[in-house]
Amino acid sequence: MSIQRTAVIGSGLMGAGIAEVLAKAGLDVIVREINDEASAAGRRRIEKSLAKAVDKGKLDAAARDAALGRLSFTTDITDLSDRQLVIEAASENEDIKKSIFSELDEVVTDPEAILASNTSSMPIIRFAQSTSRPERVLGVHFFNPAPVQPLVEIVSSVTTADSVRDTVTGFVAEVLGKNPIQAQDRPGFIVNALLIPYLCSAVRMLESGFATKEDIDAGMVGGCAHPMGPISLVDLVGLDTCLYAAQSMYAETGDPATQPPVLLSRMVDAGLLGVKSGRGFYDY
Ligand code: 3HC
Repeated sequence: MSIQRTAVIGSGLMGAGIAEVLAKAGLDVIVREINDEASAAGRRRIEKSLAKAVDKGKLDAAARDAALGRLSFTTDITDLSDRQLVIEAASENEDIKKSIFSELDEVVTDPEAILASNTSSMPIIRFAQSTSRPERVLGVHFFNPAPVQPLVEIVSSVTTADSVRDTVTGFVAEVLGKNPIQAQDRPGFIVNALLIPYLCSAVRMLESGFATKEDIDAGMVGGCAHPMGPISLVDLVGLDTCLYAAQSMYAETGDPATQPPVLLSRMVDAGLLGVKSGRGFYDY
């Protein structure tokens, strides 16, 4: 199966990054948003990232224009009827995601089409069960910033067909030029199973007055050669995304390491979501 016609649901931080990756790989991409304002914001996000890629010498102007030419936005999900691959990157709300999968199941006509979720930690099987084709549903989890981070987790549920897993793995490696790894449909898959407890611990360290955010970050950058410290990383990923991932993992495992720190919840309640909102633990 040669995947050419793709779609992304949502153009927030991750959706915009994924749409950009697909468009730069030469694919036709439709981005579905909830309204025109959200579409305009998503387009701006992609344009800004492509401009940065040009500035950094990673892309020439002609390739940027070609990528933009392959992208279109819609608010009408029925426009996705002819898609061969749809990647859902809506906000981390299980009910919203389930209803998107059920809608996609109704509108996407190709029985060979693949329906994927970029969820950080939610069970893929629940989205698969919202469709009449659970064998064609899987997780395709990108990392932020998607145009830069090379890794993609391929998450097979207990019903994902081996052929679907293999098609998507080959597509991610050969067409997108990313590094796929295979994860099981367990809370947090591979990376977030390790990362979310670490980020929660860093927020708890700050919350308890154990150390300043600057020292926590400097500790992991200078001591362990991480590209950024955990408090800055929570700001980059989004406090809301970290909170929802922790909540979903804690609900399933009861592991205290994933229990969302109260400070994280309060900051999300306050709308302090990190880089994307202009303020999180740091100001932007
Ligand atoms: N398009 C293409 N390339 C870009 C780019 C863009 N929009 N923006 C930056 N780049 C390239 C740069 O050219 C540079 O490449 P080089 O190393 O070959 O020169 C590289 O990316 C680094 O970019 P910058 O110099 O602008 O910025 P920094 O060096 O400050 O790095 C960072 C920024 C990439 C965010 C780095 O700090 C980093 O990797 N941080 C860790 C991010 C991380 O851990 N992400 C995973 C989060 S977890 C997640 O997403 C999962 C979710 O489910 C929670």
